[in-house]
Amino acid sequence: MSERIYIFDTTLRDGEQSPGVSLNMQEKLEIARQLENLGVDILEAGFPITSKGDFEGVRAIAQQIRKPVITALARAVKQDIDRAWEAVKEAARPRIHTFIATSDVHMKYKLRMKPEAVLERAVEAVKYAKSLCPEVEFSPEDASRSRPEFLYQVLEAAIMAGADVINIPDTVGYSTPLEFGSLIKGIRENVKGIDKVILSVHCHNDLGMAVANSLAAVENGARQVECTINGLGERAGNAALEEFVMALRTRKDYYGLYTNIVTEQIYRTSTLVSSLTGVHVQPNKAVVGANAFAHESGIHQHGLLANRETYEIMTPESIGLKQSQIILGKHSGRHAFEERLAELGYTHLSADEISDAFQKFKDLADKKKYVLDSDIEALISDKITQIPEVLQLEYFHISSGNSLISTSTVRLSMEGRILEEAACGDGPIDAIFHAIDRAAGLEVNLKDYRIRAITSGKDALGESTVKIEKNGRIYAGRGISTDIIEASAKAYINAINKMLLDDSEDSAQDKQAI
Ligand code: KIV
Ligand code: ZN
Repeated sequence: MSERIYIFDTTLRDGEQSPGVSLNMQEKLEIARQLENLGVDILEAGFPITSKGDFEGVRAIAQQIRKPVITALARAVKQDIDRAWEAVKEAARPRIHTFIATSDVHMKYKLRMKPEAVLERAVEAVKYAKSLCPEVEFSPEDASRSRPEFLYQVLEAAIMAGADVINIPDTVGYSTPLEFGSLIKGIRENVKGIDKVILSVHCHNDLGMAVANSLAAVENGARQVECTINGLGERAGNAALEEFVMALRTRKDYYGLYTNIVTEQIYRTSTLVSSLTGVHVQPNKAVVGANAFAHESGIHQHGLLANRETYEIMTPESIGLKQSQIILGKHSGRHAFEERLAELGYTHLSADEISDAFQKFKDLADKKKYVLDSDIEALISDKITQIPEVLQLEYFHISSGNSLISTSTVRLSMEGRILEEAACGDGPIDAIFHAIDRAAGLEVNLKDYRIRAITSGKDALGESTVKIEKNGRIYAGRGISTDIIEASAKAYINAINKMLLDDSEDSAQDKQAI
């Protein structure tokens, strides 16, 4: 009989540790809601000891997201475990995930602890976590580079201390599939009590083998797999959820295993994570890349027309990717628009959100002949994370050309005040960004700027993502428009508004502390 694999999503913890990724509370909640729709079994919401923002994010998710198990990470120390428990205790099903490194190199140089002390600390941590929380997961960090005999000893002790889940990380993505599969097999054969707990794996992608290693692990008896959307995560990332899940689904004949993931929600989840983190998906990325279902060569197209199975091993529909249809134009009414929204799966929008989206659709239909499903999805996702728009773009003007200095004038509004400024720049985008800085009276540290077309055609919607930095924190902004300069200015202002929101939350917290 086919067995179930539990999907543990760590996009909001390991994924959020990706370089240049920083999500605010509303964004974390939005992603968590979508992960719930996707059907993840366990959602690792953060590492609460690391910051107040992380703690609050985990707590809000624990309070509001009720279907999956909600877990938080803690080093094997009392203070971390207390903080993790404080953050997850209101979850419908809370779990504490505690870890300590067991490889010689980590014990000697990072922890500066003898193996006996590590063993003792692991046991104390699991016992303490278990005294607070009904479900405890234990991870021996850098397990794949640990001495197997010592690893077995630590795992056995952690199980005796009350661990419910034992997770084996390939922390630095060093393992190969055959090797990692044998490690899992060795653990199952040598660790007393392992059959009483769930055996999990957590693979990093430094050598591009995270998904292959996770698949080798489930072939050898692992029953929980830790992964992230779009493979986000430390350095080269973690095993990509969409790749692992679709491999099991597409090759059910081979693996004979299943997950409870609603695969039709994969594409939407990938797009949401990409747009909120500002980390774009490479076009040739398996499953969710823009080219994953595109067939360029004539021979392939011919084969597909004769029978899709010639070159397609899974359908675009199975990940929720619908063929973009020409659906609406400027004469379409609200009723038709609402019906299309429902068909696209947007059934939870409030009347105000629908009105707002409809107004945006009308504005777009004035500029664009046909409005496609992908345009509508972009309009909705533009509004999905509501943050206070302290700074708003009222108007801009650009003068630019290849033989003149680009100049820009902007008019912004900020809490009832009108701010107008002009500036020059090295190209129109630089000019408008400078004009916005001047008008808002800010010195903004721009870290990254991107622009791309969301849909096809000359009148395609352009999407800009901008990352700015302040005090070591990154704020990602997004803007869409048929005009790429407007999209860029909106993205820049969106990032500034996130920065201002963070500033005002920090000063509110300072006041509380006083
Ligand atoms: O990569 C790793 O080892 C981790 C652990 C904390 C599970 O992320
Ligand atoms: Zn990790």
